[in-house]
Amino acid sequence: MKERLQELQTEALAKVTESSTLSDLQDIRVAYLGKKGPITEVLRGMGKLSPEERPVIGELANKVREAIANELDSKKAKLEAEELEKKLEKETIDVTLPGRPVQVGGPHLLTSIVEEIEDLFIGMGFEIREGPEVETDYYNFEALNLPKGHPARDMQDSFYITEELLMRTHTSPVQARTMGQFNGSQPVKMICPGKVYRRDTDDATHSHQFTQVEGLYVDKDVRMSDLKGVLNRFAKQMFGEDREIRLRPSFFPFTEPSVEMDISCKVCNGEGCSVCKGTGWIEILGGGMVHPRVLEMAGYDPKEYSGFAFGMGPERIAMLKYGVDDIRHFYTNDVRFLKQYHKA
Ligand code: PHE
Repeated sequence: MKERLQELQTEALAKVTESSTLSDLQDIRVAYLGKKGPITEVLRGMGKLSPEERPVIGELANKVREAIANELDSKKAKLEAEELEKKLEKETIDVTLPGRPVQVGGPHLLTSIVEEIEDLFIGMGFEIREGPEVETDYYNFEALNLPKGHPARDMQDSFYITEELLMRTHTSPVQARTMGQFNGSQPVKMICPGKVYRRDTDDATHSHQFTQVEGLYVDKDVRMSDLKGVLNRFAKQMFGEDREIRLRPSFFPFTEPSVEMDISCKVCNGEGCSVCKGTGWIEILGGGMVHPRVLEMAGYDPKEYSGFAFGMGPERIAMLKYGVDDIRHFYTNDVRFLKQYHKA
């Protein structure tokens, strides 16, 4: 039995030395050390041995197993190291190769325009305010001198949620909210950017949801000429120093007098073209002097305070500034369209 065990050891070790792959090693392990292997078989026959011989053979069998297992382990480590070495040699990394470009996003054109408008007015001392998009009938209409039944608040124009709640149709309610909050105690100089909603059928120039920026300046002795000065600066900074502005009389229930502002057409330099429909002027916003009733309702004494307000649509401003021909481009979010306006 002793000889058989020694033979097995010599045989197994020789096979390990000859082997050259990890799977060969696994085969040897199974063949010699497995449950059905020859060493197990020898151990099974131990019952026939004398009590003196048993521990001797047992010990030897364990030593043989251990020797084979050790040899298998060290050969395995060697083969694995060789394999890694080969792999590293084969897979040389060329650090001079150019990297893969990372796709970087950028702000949406509308976001950029709103931020540009904000920066411009912050530069003139206005602060930014926000208000809710779901608005009460009171702030959206009533507090702006649009009592119930006024033709300008035609139901057709608004998305009502309940009789008293609607999606705001303009950002002007934020005027009433801000003034109401101060209740006549201090001047107000703010702009409010935000989304507004109207029951319009979407086409190239209409969208049921769009953006507005409201402006309001209330103080002692604010005049129409202040409005004109602020809007003139805005137009020149936004569209270029060579632009002229013109104010035309208009009507809004919450301003008196009311105006609409045009800028001179850059395409034809005032000669008249298809962009300005032959007039040489392009309308960009509405505004006026805050109606005394609106001041009064918000707690400001119209004998002491006066103010101006204006409202503009950033989509329209972006369309004019960049020659965008369809308002729906802002909302369909075709990346090819949006990418053109990403600043590097
Ligand atoms: N709220 C008006 C609109 O949506 C615009 C406006 C704002 C006019 C402030 C005058 C003063 O058309």
